[in-house]
Amino acid sequence: MNILILGSGGREHAFAWKIAQSPLCNNLFVAPGNSGTATVAENVNLSVTHFSDIKTFVLDKKITMVIVGPEDPLVQGIHDYFLNDEALKNIAIIGPQKAAATLEGSKAFAKAFLHKHNIPTAAYQSFNKDTIAEAYVFLEHLNPPYVLKADGLAAGKGVVILDNLHDAKTELKAMLLNSKFGTASDTVVIEEFLDGIELSCFVLTDGNNYKILPTAKDYKRIGEGDTGLNTGGMGAISPVPFADDAFMSKIEQQIVAPTIKGLQNDNLPYKGFLFIGLIKVGDQPKVIEYNVRMGDPETEVVLPRLNTDLVQLFKAVAEQKLDTITLDIDKRAAATVMLVSGGYPEAYEKEKEIVGIETISKSIVFHAGAKLQNTKVVTSGGRVMAITSYGDTYQDAIKKSYQSIEKLKFDKMYYRKDIGFDL
Ligand code: AMP
Ligand code: GLY
Repeated sequence: MNILILGSGGREHAFAWKIAQSPLCNNLFVAPGNSGTATVAENVNLSVTHFSDIKTFVLDKKITMVIVGPEDPLVQGIHDYFLNDEALKNIAIIGPQKAAATLEGSKAFAKAFLHKHNIPTAAYQSFNKDTIAEAYVFLEHLNPPYVLKADGLAAGKGVVILDNLHDAKTELKAMLLNSKFGTASDTVVIEEFLDGIELSCFVLTDGNNYKILPTAKDYKRIGEGDTGLNTGGMGAISPVPFADDAFMSKIEQQIVAPTIKGLQNDNLPYKGFLFIGLIKVGDQPKVIEYNVRMGDPETEVVLPRLNTDLVQLFKAVAEQKLDTITLDIDKRAAATVMLVSGGYPEAYEKEKEIVGIETISKSIVFHAGAKLQNTKVVTSGGRVMAITSYGDTYQDAIKKSYQSIEKLKFDKMYYRKDIGFDL
């Protein structure tokens, strides 16, 4: 089988690393890929949102399966594009159609879905510029801190949490009236603040059946002790120690099963990954958000723990036979630590040579914002590489990643030294 992965991050390197191990895969391509994917697959210079270019490539290389890494092409309807094209309609696409991808593309849509299907989540209301006066009144009736969310995709920056009412009103005005996040903040969701510890639950579904993959916890803030600006993710561990059987059973019964049933009832076809961002409030899991893709860097700890052949799993998704598969999960823990460019998530320099990669033997190096320049690997993004290790416990795994990182270097390299600190 010839397979194409769309995307260029650590997540896509992890997909490529895993798929390259499958006997079912003949030729593997990643578009656009990075220096890591180039070691296990062929990189192709295509944009993930130029569907007609992707079509030409897919037909030329006789691709029969496409795995969509990031949300953008899904929210823009790549799966529908394939289904509506006579030459492409039988190609397996891993990722939901546009209607279901709206669960990530619009927070107001996701909240309405959660509400309709009685899935536990924070109380909320959504507002636009015509209802800003009502939004102020709604804020006045909430307790601080105040959670404001731009409805649309805002590159992970659209959630703002503020401690006082005055700042919350100022921010709301900037979002609704001054287009702080462009059209993404034409609608704003205001919700109740939930106090608890976060975790991520990953589900693979064929629309009828589902499999729950290992849980993970990521560390989003740039600074140690979860301080400073939000990032795409600075590290992750799997499994999540506090997600025991009793808690997982609540997640499955109260959240996963009703979500899959809700998708069916609302006629939202779904073949792909669903990433459910959760928060544990007391003993109760509540949904913070849906993403219609895998997480990054969570993929870099979830896939290494999956012993099952990923291509076989994706084939079952495409054929809606996921019920015939039993997942085989590695009992060991996995941890990953992200190396980032100094300055990230604000301005940072690029094209710094990364040295020491070939000396790493006890960890897996997943490249993210890294590219080949002549024969050298240089930085090309904020999040540069994820260093993943296994361990009998998550502490062992983290320790191994930090030992490996000692051998890696680039100018202004930064990483958090406290991954797992809160567990
Ligand atoms: P989101 O983009 O929806 O994942 O939100 C980004 C982050 O904001 C989450 O990972 C949480 O840390 C935080 N957050 C979002 N909604 C809430 C909420 N209702 N209560 C507390 N924290 C929240
Ligand atoms: N690590 C969070 C995300 O992928 O959205």
